[in-house]
Amino acid sequence: MALIEISDLAPGIRQLLFNRPDKLNALSTPLMGEFDAALDAAAEDPEVRVIVLRGAGGKAFVAGADIAEYQGDKRAAFIAYQMNSRRVFDKLERLPKPVICAIDGFALGGGFEIALCCDILLVTPDAQLGLPEGRLGLSPGGGGTQRLVRAVGKYAASDLMLAGWRMSGARAHALGIAADVTDDLDAAVLKRARACLKIAPLAQAEMKRLMREGADAPVETAKSFEQEVLFRLYSTADGQEGIDAFLEKRDPAFRGA
Ligand code: COA
Repeated sequence: MALIEISDLAPGIRQLLFNRPDKLNALSTPLMGEFDAALDAAAEDPEVRVIVLRGAGGKAFVAGADIAEYQGDKRAAFIAYQMNSRRVFDKLERLPKPVICAIDGFALGGGFEIALCCDILLVTPDAQLGLPEGRLGLSPGGGGTQRLVRAVGKYAASDLMLAGWRMSGARAHALGIAADVTDDLDAAVLKRARACLKIAPLAQAEMKRLMREGADAPVETAKSFEQEVLFRLYSTADGQEGIDAFLEKRDPAFRGA
């Protein structure tokens, strides 16, 4: 049985399902290997326009790294696992296509770190998100401390890390991390994914890169990057098609060029 179940929800919408429900979809080394390969396949396939991440079983999105692999002070294996997670999570963050993360149940530790690498989060009201590594005597290692503090600021981040507090889906929505909070996650996923299909793919890739790289650049430099991108997109076939389609009152046919 695949640990990452790959399916297409509709043309262009690729779902990757974390599929280890008996262990709340914990990120074992074999599961991480399948996730890595599934991300590569989705990135390379021109038919895939939007990626959706979900967890199987209804109880968890992902409850974090597989703690069973940590036991026994296996330092070399532990470091290799952490370096690999960092690489895969960075790859996820840099995917040039929109990634929707749909969370019902627990998104803890590495599960929440994965969510923080995605672009649009959809949650159920009673989902529970957190970085509880401190309860194990550890700290996050997949970028969680840095991505969370940049997403919500020091105080909300401290509550999750220093008090080990789990944030509800409703609070994630109130804080602006989640784009929507709903009990009907299936419908919300399809609605957002279909909306993503209407945006030009080159523009999506460039806007993702601008948000990511601009965040670490001086603002005037970032604004110059932004205009360079716009000037480039203006002269693409899709840029001209989008303008023509609006003026001709029809739907644009974007080709990714
Ligand atoms: N790694 C390995 N196994 C995990 C796991 C993880 N991160 N999270 C859950 N599991 C396993 C449990 O060991 C249990 O396995 P078992 O049935 O063989 O005993 C199974 O998944 C179900 O979890 P359980 O703890 O019984 O469910 P619960 O409803 O009582 O509690 C949580 C749910 C999420 C609160 C609890 O499982 C938990 O705290 N998990 C660890 C979260 C964490 O610290 N993540 C960061 C890791 S660095």
